Amino acid sequence: MPVKILMVCLGNICRSPLAEGILQSKLDTNQFIVDSAGTSGYHQGERPDPRSITTARAHGIDITNQRSAHFHASDFDRYDYIYVMDQSNYDNVIKLASTERDRQKVKLILDEIYPNQNMEVPDPYYGGDQGFENVYQMLDLACDQIAEKLNGNII
Ligand code: 4NP
Repeated sequence: MPVKILMVCLGNICRSPLAEGILQSKLDTNQFIVDSAGTSGYHQGERPDPRSITTARAHGIDITNQRSAHFHASDFDRYDYIYVMDQSNYDNVIKLASTERDRQKVKLILDEIYPNQNMEVPDPYYGGDQGFENVYQMLDLACDQIAEKLNGNII
């Protein structure tokens, strides 16, 4: 059974699609499944934001096949690890948890590289293109760490 990882942000069109594409590119797809979702359903069914698509493509990652999905409580049963981008995502996801085991699956993604500092991946939606590259760089570092842990099973 593959290990399943879910990346979560608000709209599932900017940050978590990048996180999905980046982590997927660092893992063996026979052993791991990486998906993403948004705590809002605002953009359900849509492609990632064109700025996320362009930024990913500049780094050799194709995310055009992704479609925005709404995070649902049943995702706690479907995924082993849930990484959120910011505190607001964390609060929204935790609200839907029903067990301690559910709650333990949820982590701020930047805690992987800056433990216990509660750092957030900034929402680039209302900003310029540079915000997307900035987000990419943060997520790339965090995903390096996650991939290393997952491959060594020490998460
Ligand atoms: P994301 O960015 O959470 O990184 O996908 C956003 C996308 C859309 C909206 C907010 C944030 N929105 O309000 O529509």
